[in-house]
Amino acid sequence: MRTFYNGLIRTSHIGKNVSLCGWVNRRRDHGGVIFIDLRDHTGIVQLVFSPENKFIFQKASQLRNEYCINVLGIVNLRPIESYNKEIESGEVEILCHELNILNVSITPPFNIDDNNILENTRLSYRYLDLRSSKMQKNLRTRYQVTMEIRKFLDKLNFIDIETPFLTKSTPEGARDYLIPSRINIGNFYALPQSPQLFKQLLMISGFDRYYQIVKCFRDEDLRADRQPEFTQIDCEMSFINEEEIRNLFENMIIHIFKTIINVNLPNKFPTITWKESIDKYGTDKPDLRINLELINITEITKTSSLKIFSDIALNNGKVVALKVPQGAIFSRKEIEFYTNYVMSYGAKGLAYIKINDIKKGYEGLQSPIVKNLSIEELNQIFTKIDAKNNDIVFFGADKESIVNSYMGALRLKIGISDFSKRNNIFKDQFCPLWVIDFPMFEFDENKNKYTSIHHPFTSPKQSIDELRDIKPDSILSKSYDLVINGWEIGGGSIRIHHEEMQRKIFNILGISNEEAHYKFGFLLEALKYGAPPHGGIAFGLDRLVSIMVNAESIREVIAFPKTQRAQCLLTQAPSEVEKEQLIDLHINISKNI
Ligand code: AMO
Repeated sequence: MRTFYNGLIRTSHIGKNVSLCGWVNRRRDHGGVIFIDLRDHTGIVQLVFSPENKFIFQKASQLRNEYCINVLGIVNLRPIESYNKEIESGEVEILCHELNILNVSITPPFNIDDNNILENTRLSYRYLDLRSSKMQKNLRTRYQVTMEIRKFLDKLNFIDIETPFLTKSTPEGARDYLIPSRINIGNFYALPQSPQLFKQLLMISGFDRYYQIVKCFRDEDLRADRQPEFTQIDCEMSFINEEEIRNLFENMIIHIFKTIINVNLPNKFPTITWKESIDKYGTDKPDLRINLELINITEITKTSSLKIFSDIALNNGKVVALKVPQGAIFSRKEIEFYTNYVMSYGAKGLAYIKINDIKKGYEGLQSPIVKNLSIEELNQIFTKIDAKNNDIVFFGADKESIVNSYMGALRLKIGISDFSKRNNIFKDQFCPLWVIDFPMFEFDENKNKYTSIHHPFTSPKQSIDELRDIKPDSILSKSYDLVINGWEIGGGSIRIHHEEMQRKIFNILGISNEEAHYKFGFLLEALKYGAPPHGGIAFGLDRLVSIMVNAESIREVIAFPKTQRAQCLLTQAPSEVEKEQLIDLHINISKNI
């Protein structure tokens, strides 16, 4: 039916007879001639219907947006004054002598390449939204990424092995999606939050290089970078250490960026410890495009005459400064905006000092708090943060976790502003890094017990003997996260491969022997049969592709995503089901919930 794609026709095709297919993007009637922009995934070409051929001309005048058509015609050079520089086929047009209307379309709810459509409307008519050049490009890039990853891993002898979806849950920190069993009344499968335990079992089975590009399911609060079902590039290897894993997968990421979007990432990604990351950026997924750092001034402020600082510094809290070069020009309104912003992260306020002339002492400073600080203290702070004229310094003081959260958020907010772009504080590039040496556990005050920061199968850095004399808070794990531009793109670890160590970690997590046996008995049993040392990593494919195509949300690289309320606006899932289906499953919905 088709001899060419529309967007690929060029002057080299002039004089050729072509048969083209696609959708009507726009119809214009000009001085008795009908012009049609015909679209397919490669782009647009202009069709011309002249009134000389009355029959076809009349047919062409019936065409409306999104009609699906086939035309036969001859490629013709456009008059130079009507070249269209916006499209790649803009120097040619097709003089049509046959038109087949393959299907009509009712009036579409939006123009396909309109960028200002409400997302809910786009999601309700996703099949139309996916016709847009942006969505075509995003999904095709996603496909190329997965193809290139498969080729890369295949060359290194990884093999793709499928693991079950109807399974028992592996804890990854979210709620499970449950599937009731019809045959085993009252029992449930869980959709996997990741294939974690299966890939470990495959290592025990001797498949020493496994990968899978696989759906994972997590019932958690959704955000721009989170979907209830998302895709991981899930990998595992035996007889390997952390550094070897990081090197191999760093090369994979470098290769993908180069081959798919022609970007040269640094050939060695920086590695920083979790502690350094929290100290400098207030977060474990720092955006290194921003050249701003938090500086800890807790020691200096212990003797501060400003009571809010010294009270917090002396009571296990944290005081930090964020210096913004050239920021003294921030208006009162801007400072108020940033103050309200940090307050939404739990700050009680936002102290600041504008440095107009550092040599003039109090005279040269503009600040609501400066009079409460001694000149010596100010000098100590300014030396520590290397303050200069025209800087603004913001201060955060609170419990450590709160200060990290709001000052980290402030660094990010200022860091991506137009001000930062103008002043070279923000550089528009890709900044990958590894974050390593995560703590094994964090204490959950609500549950009054320790939980795993990565997952309970991650190996600690310490040996089982060393664990006896050490507080859980001080145990570090053999885990690593890959972060690019503030997005956690992947995470993994070396796993526990001794049963005794696995029991010990369950023990610290407050999992009783009975519970461990009930939930993870199969793993504990398998570890007894010569389990090899092993480790791995999983990348979020949706996030990786989003970063590569510069999308703000992972919904932009998923064909049929869910909304923030975990709904599919196209199919209306989730929805009620037939009574008979519930009876089969022995499920009784309580309307009183
Ligand atoms: P983790 O839970 O860190 O590790 O997940 C790995 C990567 O998956 C992506 N990701 C998500 N993407 C979209 N929506 C979500 N809801 C979502 N949750 C996670 C992130 C993340 O870095 N089994 C371990 C991996 C391992 O240890 O090998 C795991 O699942 O990019």
